[in-house]
Amino acid sequence: MGREAVSREPIDPEALDHGYTRYLIAKKSVDDRALNRRVLADLCRVMPAGAWRVLEIGAGLGTMVARLLEWQVVTAGEYTLVDVDRQLLRDSRTWLSQWATARGLPTELLPDGLRLGDLRVRLVEAELGSYLEAVIRHRSIS
Ligand SMILES: C[S@@+](CC[C@H](N)C(=O)[O-])C[C@H]1O[C@@H](n2cnc3c(N)ncnc32)[C@H](O)[C@@H]1O
Repeated sequence: MGREAVSREPIDPEALDHGYTRYLIAKKSVDDRALNRRVLADLCRVMPAGAWRVLEIGAGLGTMVARLLEWQVVTAGEYTLVDVDRQLLRDSRTWLSQWATARGLPTELLPDGLRLGDLRVRLVEAELGSYLEAVIRHRSIS
């Protein structure tokens, strides 16, 4: 951290003003405290070292990836946020970018998400069932 943030595209100035977005931002600090640290420690113990590939379903605003970055549980690799709510994903791009920039984490907006330090975050608008069907279909033809 400590390097200057880089943004290639403007972010939506009206973002973060939607009811559900405000609710998810407001509850982040509650979730930070409520998260079971023993489960987190067990997860860190069983996960392989190095860059992770994470798929989060129903990721909302992306507060979990922010939390895992802040706690240095995840620092590099690829983290995919899947959510059915398009507005939340738009807000996620803005919120994560602002969140990272405020912490001095180099931030780059990408066409399908953003890069936060060494972590590539993909934002995927999809319903879980159709997302899984698409993944299975893709695997069976490749
Ligand atoms: C209670 S919010 C939790 C968001 C985030 N995980 C958090 O802890 O802040 C649940 C999220 O799941 C999403 N969701 C619900 N059903 C879904 C489905 N079938 N497929 C994809 N996303 C879904 C909603 O749009 C919502 O953003």
